Amino acid sequence: MREDEEARARKRARKQARRERREKEGQGAVAGPLSPPPPAPLPLAAAGRDEEERRARKTERKLEKRARKERKERKERKEEESEGPFAPAPPLSPPPPLPIHVDSSTLSAEWPFPTAFGDHYETPLLAYSHVGPVLASLPPPPSELRIYDPYFCRGGMKGHLRSLGFPNVTNLPRDFYADVADGALPPHDVLLTNPPYSGDHKSRLFGFLLASGRPYLLLLPAWTAKWLPWRTYLYAASRRLKGKAATMEGARERTRKLANLSADLERKARVFYVAPPAGTKYEYAAAVRAREEAPFHGVWFCGNFGSEEATEKAAGAVGGGCRVYRTLGELVGGGIVEGIEGGRGKMDAEAEGRRRGAIAKLEEGRKRKRAEHGRARNYGEREVARAAPAAALGGDVEARLKLPGNERACRHFFAGAGCVRGDKCRFDHELA
Ligand SMILES: C[S@@+](CC[C@H](N)C(=O)[O-])C[C@H]1O[C@@H](n2cnc3c(N)ncnc32)[C@H](O)[C@@H]1O
Repeated sequence: MREDEEARARKRARKQARRERREKEGQGAVAGPLSPPPPAPLPLAAAGRDEEERRARKTERKLEKRARKERKERKERKEEESEGPFAPAPPLSPPPPLPIHVDSSTLSAEWPFPTAFGDHYETPLLAYSHVGPVLASLPPPPSELRIYDPYFCRGGMKGHLRSLGFPNVTNLPRDFYADVADGALPPHDVLLTNPPYSGDHKSRLFGFLLASGRPYLLLLPAWTAKWLPWRTYLYAASRRLKGKAATMEGARERTRKLANLSADLERKARVFYVAPPAGTKYEYAAAVRAREEAPFHGVWFCGNFGSEEATEKAAGAVGGGCRVYRTLGELVGGGIVEGIEGGRGKMDAEAEGRRRGAIAKLEEGRKRKRAEHGRARNYGEREVARAAPAAALGGDVEARLKLPGNERACRHFFAGAGCVRGDKCRFDHELA
């Protein structure tokens, strides 16, 4: 609007100047009410035109100056009305809340890796506050401690940890396993996470921790403490601490049955558990349409602190009414985990039925394969080779087995129930 008025005023000024020029050249000047004072007569018409143009330009400049002044005044008035030029900017409106997914069809729009519907729960601040003292007991100091959570939901955990004095946290929407494969993990001092509970995520994480050797704190359902892959991990970790090579695969071979595993594996693996104060159960923030509450007790599984002293220091830092448990037996005794026979199976009879069905199917498949290959794998059905009686071998076989040169003698063949490998046995069936 203002610009239009100014343009019109400039046009009027030019028109006026032209009119005056014409009057001067022809009929003589008649001063109008808005005309500038009559100029001194010039000898030539051209000189008169120059003078008129100069005046027109001057008028134009004046009008522009006035317009600029008006614009400045308007701006100042506006600033005054809004508490001056340094008034704080109006607060930004908070970002709209992220949607709650009602089924799996929308998950890939939010997470750039395959995920399961039931895994999208964020750890609450309370849970982090319970292990804050453990984190603070680790070197370096909290402001420098590099914390890595490889499993990403909505990144809320970074804010929680910052509020507890740990600003250096990495939790990104990246595929953890791809980063492991690419060697693209962020440098970190401790791994702190609540992993997805579905599929084989937990086992994969245990395998990673076994290899990495870095301190970790994992928030897991309490029943995981009696779960075979965790006990297998403990077995492998305890062997590593004894200076022996161990992998999850190798350990699996040795720990087929829970009964095979020692009750104090946690101590051997230098691991401890932190449970919230009695009567407290963590409430997770769901990114998906949730059940009423988590059907399990969340417990922190902590390990890889290094020496026994370092492990004790970390466990000793736990406070705030939280309870430290050293073994599965203690968790059972404390009512956190049900005994081997109870718990998970009882909790979900349907899942247990499915599990039994799957095992039966697997067993059937194995039997079929055995029949197809015409090879009985059962010890009872297999041909066993045994050494001749001790007397025939010439004396105390046990003593002879200890002699140098007999290190590679097959103990099954000479002193055990017999060797089922026969010609394929990689140990010697003859004594030196
Ligand atoms: C139980 S939530 C916990 C999230 C977060 N760690 C926390 O404590 O709040 C597990 C998350 O793991 C994420 N996840 C699943 N597979 C993943 C992968 N391959 N890489 C990174 N994150 C993954 C899922 O998006 C899921 O939200």
